[in-house]
Amino acid sequence: MKLIRFFLAVAVIAVMFISVACEYVFIEPVTYTVSGEVKFSTDVAPVLNRECITCHNGNHSSGLDLRTDYSYASLQANNCVTAPAATSILIVHINADHHSDGITGEENAKMVSWIDAAAPNN
Ligand code: HEC
Repeated sequence: MKLIRFFLAVAVIAVMFISVACEYVFIEPVTYTVSGEVKFSTDVAPVLNRECITCHNGNHSSGLDLRTDYSYASLQANNCVTAPAATSILIVHINADHHSDGITGEENAKMVSWIDAAAPNN
């Protein structure tokens, strides 16, 4: 009888621990609101240059060159930044985790905003 009580006590304590461990923590998805004008020269080009030029460096098979001095012309020539941003080749690649792990949510939101503003060379 004592043994059964002991096991019951252990079971109750175990259930208490498990229910605490399984506490549901809701993580709000982070959305970024971009305010003000987004500039290609300061908000987009440096990010592409930082994240993408190990491959897109002028010798790449896709023909897309994302080095700072070449990225604007190359993105346009390859039709990568045509609005709406959500279906643009650039954002579709980035959102599909195409070697884009280092791009932050805020940087992504700025690129989207820039493309939806007709991708000016600003
Ligand atoms: C490890 C090499 C590598 C890296 C790093 C890389 N890419 Fe690519 N990328 C490729 C390859 C290979 C292709 C061609 C196949 C394809 O479309 O996925 C490509 C194609 C693309 C295309 C389509 C080009 C077109 O004309 O259709 C886009 C857009 C693109 N990459 C964007 C990026 C961006 C933005 C980054 C940086 C965040 C990046 N890539 C980093 C290898 C890479």
